[in-house]
Amino acid sequence: MYKPKALVTGASRGIGHEIAKSLVQEGYEVFGTSRHPDSLSETNKIPGVNFLKMDLLLPKTIDAVIAQLGSLDLLINNAGYSQIGSVEEITFDRIQEIFDANLFSQIRLIKGFIPKMREKQQGVIINITSMAGTNPMPFSTIYAASKAAFDKFTQGLRNELAKYHIMVIAIAPLYANTSITQNLDYNKDSPYRVEIEKARASRRRQLTNSVHPKVIAKQVMKILKLKHPKYHYTTGKNAKLMGFFMRYMPQKFIEKMIRKRFELNY
Ligand SMILES: NC(=O)c1ccc[n+]([C@@H]2O[C@H](COP(=O)([O-])OP(=O)(O)OC[C@H]3O[C@@H](n4cnc5c(N)ncnc54)[C@H](OP(=O)(O)O)[C@@H]3O)[C@@H](O)[C@H]2O)c1
Repeated sequence: MYKPKALVTGASRGIGHEIAKSLVQEGYEVFGTSRHPDSLSETNKIPGVNFLKMDLLLPKTIDAVIAQLGSLDLLINNAGYSQIGSVEEITFDRIQEIFDANLFSQIRLIKGFIPKMREKQQGVIINITSMAGTNPMPFSTIYAASKAAFDKFTQGLRNELAKYHIMVIAIAPLYANTSITQNLDYNKDSPYRVEIEKARASRRRQLTNSVHPKVIAKQVMKILKLKHPKYHYTTGKNAKLMGFFMRYMPQKFIEKMIRKRFELNY
């Protein structure tokens, strides 16, 4: 029996790990990526998932995955990471690195798989973006900008590929309880240190109090079964409520709410 072929980037832990596990249960032939596929612990491995080496910051490893797999039925662009710090202090090299990791490497991967999907006139591309893209958290501005761009890229690409029956979807989690990497882009003597540390502690609490990543995976499986999925879904605890606020509440109210949430008293 034909098993649809899926690739989940960043399947060693967190959201990608749960998505890859669920896809195996749904009968997909699943490939996952990690920077260290040969030294994964037993908890990072998944029975039935073949791990390939891929580093978002090393384009050669992305091209090697494309060459090795050739064609795909489902691509889940999940791997990525966050950062915390001020725009004033972050170096331009780091900004470029964050965009490489959260946007350009995903575009590279997508471009690599489009030709075969177009020839077969079928395929699904799911991009894990973030609600930070529509609702930037304080002092995570570069991460938010990279995710906002990824969201809009998804929307644009969808119109290009619809003719070839290739479905492109953005799934934007609010929070999931993972150990997501948050690179620190500030110094001890930073003029923003107090606010950054408050925002950081608040973010840590919100991550801890959020849903298990399997909740996100469950929603991805539901979306995969829809005949006509939308371009954009939010997911996670209170994600719908937050989406509603962002759309309908006055901007001043939203700004106040966000600063209060991150304990920024100004
Ligand atoms: N957790 C949240 O609250 C949240 C909210 C909104 C959006 N998201 C998005 O959801 C996605 C997954 O996040 P998560 O919370 O599940 O993170 P996570 O637990 O840190 O998992 C990240 C995965 O990506 C891989 N990865 C990290 N850096 C990489 C790099 N430079 N090159 C290649 N692979 C790399 C890791 O694999 P290896 O370390 O094995 O290489 C790991 O499998 C990210 O795109 C994130 O922005 C998360």
